[in-house]
This record gives sequence, C-alpha cells and structure tokens, in this order.
Amino acid sequence: MLPLTLTRGQQTFDSPVTPAARCIDSALVRRLLPLAIFLVFAAGCSVNKPGEKVVAPLPSKVVGTVPKAQVTSVPTQYKNGDPVAGKQVFESAGCKGCHTLKDAGATGTVGPNLDQVKPPLSKVVPQVLNGGPQMPPFKGSLSAKQIADVAAYVVKATGGNPNG
Ligand code: HEC
Repeated sequence: MLPLTLTRGQQTFDSPVTPAARCIDSALVRRLLPLAIFLVFAAGCSVNKPGEKVVAPLPSKVVGTVPKAQVTSVPTQYKNGDPVAGKQVFESAGCKGCHTLKDAGATGTVGPNLDQVKPPLSKVVPQVLNGGPQMPPFKGSLSAKQIADVAAYVVKATGGNPNG
C-alpha cells in the first residue's frame, strides 16, 4: 500500500513536472530569444573578428590654413571708423567732386556712383589708400583715422558690407 502510494506519488510528481518544466523553459526561451539574438548581433558589432581591419576614429588633421569667412582682411587701424566724422572727410577731401553719393549730396560723375556700387569695407579702404587708375591715392593726404572714418561712412551710407 505504502510503496504503491509512493510510486504513484512519484509518478504523479514526476510526470506533470517534467512537461511543466519544459513548458516554462520554452516560454522563457521564447521570451529571451530576441534578447539573445540582439546580444549576438551587438557583440558581433563591437568585437572585431580576427583578421578584420581595425578602423579607429582618427582626429582629422587640417593641413594648411582653414579658409576664413572674411576673405580679404582690412588692417585693424582702418576698421571701426566713425561714419559721422567720415561724412566730413568725404565732403572735404574731394570725393564729392568725382562720386555720386546721395547721403552726402554728392553728384560727381568722374568715378562710379557709390550708391550703386555699395562697396564693402575691404574695397573702400585700399581704394582710398592707393587710389586707382583714375583716382588719386589718399594715404599721403589723409590720416589713418580719416581714411577709416571715410571708409566707414561710404560703407554705411551706401549699405555696403562692413565686414566684407
Ligand atoms: C579725381 C576723381 C576722384 C576722386 C577725388 C575720388 N575718386 Fe574714388 N574713384 C574715382 C574713379 C575714376 C574710380 C574708378 C576707377 C579707378 O579706380 O580709378 C573710383 C573708385 C572708387 C571706389 C571703388 C568703387 C568700386 O567700383 O568698387 C571707391 C570706394 C571710391 N572711389 C571712393 C572714393 C572716396 C571715399 C574718395 C574720397 C576720399 C574718392 N573716391 C575720391 C575717382 C575719384
């Protein structure tokens, strides 16, 4: 009686547990399988296979000079001129006689109409300093400050680029 019960007990104990355990196992496996696949891929991505070329990120070196936003640079002493003082210079230095510039009441026609040209600072400064084929240089007759001022004025009055 007792061994029989034990046997039955073992049987009833053994037989349902094993399939149940298999059930749990397969449910677990099913749940963990995507994770396992993901881990395999993740590992595959980060671990270099033997014989594979190791590509390490290298700092990119710049050989030569990096192009500046401002292509032509104006010497510092000709920057940040005072446009109000520059208007006086424009009127007294003779610019008026050759150029048209509405703000200064200038109607000269020997040189280009500055309202139309809208020259950037980097154009006015060397032009006033050195002149051109038909324009006299002013570096001998105007001070650096006066040149800075008149250039700032021309740029401001015509809407030229003060940084260009
Ligand atoms: C004698 C006449 C004359 C006088 C004075 C003169 N200019 Fe000119 N300017 C010219 C002529 C002509 C040109 C165009 C040809 C050249 O460069 O010679 C010119 C060109 C310029 C340009 C370049 C315009 C462009 O096409 O980009 C600027 C800016 C300018 N002048 C500003 C001035 C200023 C500021 C003064 C006064 C300080 C002045 N000029 C005095 C005749 C003159």
